[in-house]
Amino acid sequence: MSANRPAAVVVLAAGEGTRMKSATPKVLHALCGRSLVGHVVAASRELSPEHLVVVVGHAREQVSAHLAETDAEVRTAVQHEQNGTGHAVRMGLEELSDSGVALDGTVIVVCGDTPLLTGETLQRLAAAHDADGNAVTVLSAEVPDATGYGRIVREDATGAVTAIVEHKDATDAQRAIREINSGVFAFDAQLLTDALGKVRTDNSQGEEYLTDVLGILREAGHRVGACVAGDHREILGINNRVQLAEARRLLNERLLERAMLSGVTVVDPATTWIDVTVTFEPDALVHPGTQLLGATHLATDAEVGPNSRLTDTTVGQGAAVSFTVAEGAEIGAGASVGPYAYLRPGTRLGAKAKAGTYVEMKNATIGEGTKVPHLSYVGDATIGEQTNIGAASVFVNYDGVNKHHTTIGSHCRTGADNMLVAPVTIGDGAYTAAGSVITKDVPPGSLAVARGQQRNIEGWVARKRPGSAAARAAESARREDEGQQ
Ligand code: UD1
Ligand code: CA
Repeated sequence: MSANRPAAVVVLAAGEGTRMKSATPKVLHALCGRSLVGHVVAASRELSPEHLVVVVGHAREQVSAHLAETDAEVRTAVQHEQNGTGHAVRMGLEELSDSGVALDGTVIVVCGDTPLLTGETLQRLAAAHDADGNAVTVLSAEVPDATGYGRIVREDATGAVTAIVEHKDATDAQRAIREINSGVFAFDAQLLTDALGKVRTDNSQGEEYLTDVLGILREAGHRVGACVAGDHREILGINNRVQLAEARRLLNERLLERAMLSGVTVVDPATTWIDVTVTFEPDALVHPGTQLLGATHLATDAEVGPNSRLTDTTVGQGAAVSFTVAEGAEIGAGASVGPYAYLRPGTRLGAKAKAGTYVEMKNATIGEGTKVPHLSYVGDATIGEQTNIGAASVFVNYDGVNKHHTTIGSHCRTGADNMLVAPVTIGDGAYTAAGSVITKDVPPGSLAVARGQQRNIEGWVARKRPGSAAARAAESARREDEGQQ
């Protein structure tokens, strides 16, 4: 157990977020693979708090359902009316005491709309709070533009923090202050509970401000302090979609920087987008215009891009993937995918296998060294090793009602433009002729021919299209032929 382990973290996520102008509640908007509140919960978890409560209100069913999916251990407290941040914290603490939890120690409060906040900074706040023996410690930051934020007011002589004044309630002199309240605090649990009972609503918004607790505790003679965040961008609060895009860019930069420092080559960080859940091995290489999402993993020497989107996809050592969309696919070591391939869920490409140009695959296991080079659809199939599928082939898996499976052995050569009508099996070492519609099983080692016989009707053009360019061309070819004999 860490020395600064808090008794509880309370996450405030009850507000509507009207400035997002969205049908989706603000805290559920996503960046880099997690919701706003999901990022905050993940950072809070790094403190290993005894209790983690998220205060929900607006669209609370939707938010609660999302939280349950994100973190099964999370508790929610309901704030029926959004009467301010102080009121919200009160609801969070009441939820805990109602269920018999007696808080003793530190309570950390964070807003659900600050997704860039790191666990490390929260640790630093908790440690500073303990070390200074404060009743409350606010995480503050110096920002270039403080508009909209609560200002940290300090005593001229000592520099001691005396109060937080909301932008709307601030005087001109106070508005000139650039040190702002991040909305993140460490409190002594008991003193917080007592002080929340004294918070009034005589302010410009008629709300219970959590920020008033600071002044209340200070006046009662308790120690009040601030811990200044090293990087003000970390406490960016998202109120609209411009800030959402800004936060996404910053977080993406942070993730790419971490990847590059761990040995990944990112050719163009400005056009590469990754989720927090993506993992890499050293010497993976990412080309421009690439999105790596979900549980995607790139092994050593894997090369992805340009212009690809991989979701929940693993790329094996030395595999190359270009101009590709893949979801839930496993790409084996040394395999080659694209340009212009679409790998759908359940695609498992063996080592050194190939899904080439204009190839779509779904629920298909492709053996080692097997190639599907051009213009094909492979759905619901198992293919053995070292087999080649001819260009422009379709695995006809759907009869309009049910999906059926195709099994192809190892060392097969199917001809170009085949329709493989499932369910069907082609044995090891078998061949099929170009243009075949395969509806019956093909035994190992045989050649299947399943197409109309070719018939040439001699002199048809001269009779049916007399005087045409085709007829003249045919006639001169005939003469030339005669002349040679
Ligand atoms: C708040 C702070 C401000 C600080 C800023 C940092 C107060 C009074 N103001 O202002 O000092 O600089 O954050 O970003 O605390 N919420 C509830 N219930 C409510 C009201 C808010 O759960 O009744 C939640 C919101 O969902 C949000 C968070 O609290 O996640 C902050 O609320 P918001 O309205 O964004 O506060 P700000 O005006 O940004
Ligand atoms: Ca805010």
